[in-house]
Amino acid sequence: MNNFTFCNPVKIIFGKDTISKLSKELSNDSKVMIIYGGGSIKNNGVYDQVINALTGHKFVEFSGIEPNPHYETCIKCADMIRRENVDFLLAVGGGSVIDATKFIAAAALYDGDAWDIMTGKGKIIKAMPFGTVLTLPATGSEMNSGSVITKASTQEKFAFNSTLVFPKFSVLDPETTFSLPPKQIANGIIDTFVHVMEQYLTYNVNAKLQDYFAESILKVLIEEGSKVFENPYDYDIRANLMWASTWGLNGWIAKGVAEDWSTHMIGHELTALHGIDHGQTLAIVLPGVMGIMKDDKEEKILQLGERVFNITEGSNQDRIIKTIDAVDNFFQSLGIKTRLTDYNVGKETIDSIVKRFEDRNWALGEKGNITPEVVREILIKRM
Ligand code: NZQ
Ligand code: ZN
Repeated sequence: MNNFTFCNPVKIIFGKDTISKLSKELSNDSKVMIIYGGGSIKNNGVYDQVINALTGHKFVEFSGIEPNPHYETCIKCADMIRRENVDFLLAVGGGSVIDATKFIAAAALYDGDAWDIMTGKGKIIKAMPFGTVLTLPATGSEMNSGSVITKASTQEKFAFNSTLVFPKFSVLDPETTFSLPPKQIANGIIDTFVHVMEQYLTYNVNAKLQDYFAESILKVLIEEGSKVFENPYDYDIRANLMWASTWGLNGWIAKGVAEDWSTHMIGHELTALHGIDHGQTLAIVLPGVMGIMKDDKEEKILQLGERVFNITEGSNQDRIIKTIDAVDNFFQSLGIKTRLTDYNVGKETIDSIVKRFEDRNWALGEKGNITPEVVREILIKRM
């Protein structure tokens, strides 16, 4: 196991009717800004619950954060925060609203062009405090310090990370997820599945607890993912999915092990260039990464096959192929298509992505050997 330090300061408030506990987390002197998306929270009753919980507190609202949140929208929100003297932010929504709030929390106090935060040119030295009410289990953003923002004008999608943007608290009420459309449920399960894979499917460092924990999260996703569509109002299924997705990316399973975020980095380009949902891009790319990198990842693919999909028969090569197929089939069983051609993406897009990675000098993967040309092979495999 590799050396590590670990600190996750996010307070989790989990369970039924927990939105009513918001008031206790907010100071009476604060002026709060509620930040949300396109209105799903108004249709499913979450907005009303938040407003009730904020009785007696001063607050303003900012809505219209888009899925794959835009830098341009965040900047408008940061301007409003400064005008209104807001001092606490409350994100209510999925990963996009939470990520946007993290960026806004930093941008509102940043001198200069806040896009520099995303490109790494600028460093955050302070950020506003914020809390979250999660409505879509997927990203883990409610319990981590990462954020992914898109600049619409240049079709660029980048991530940033800073310990200054950990939420102060996150409210996780599984009932808020009852209203999710099937596609978003599937996207969320796939996103969590792939977060686990990026932190697990590398090389063995004999980190037993991290491995067993990662495999447990995958098993919960497979088990509950096979039931949730037919039982959308089953509280326990929703609770298990919600808690699994938080643990998929709260930093814990990454500690002491190698990581490979190549599926995400390639997926982000497909979203930036074609608007394909985050979860869908991962379902396209991961089987390609597994196939092309199968020699480097052999030991872990065999372990995944055996412990998660019960694949124990045949030669190592047979078991690897069966395991990659099992992953692809799992994504498809959730109703998500897994080929580039399913989304009308052709060779020109592959060329553009390879060119972007060359320009950025990117070499991805746990060994830094997923060069732009390897990215091409991965994507061609997924045509
Ligand atoms: O905009 P609203 O009206 O809220 O509707 C949303 C949106 O249309 C809707 N929705 C959310 N909760 C709902 C609901 N509809 C009905 N009932 C509910 N309870 O679902 C749609 C998608 O929401 P979004 O927030 O975009 O989805 P998700 O949570 O999957 O977030 C995706 C974003 O997170 C980033 C992705 O790149 C993408 O931009 N990620 C962030 C990460 C992080 N911060 O650690 C890691 C991830 O890998 C990921 O990259
Ligand atoms: Zn993701």
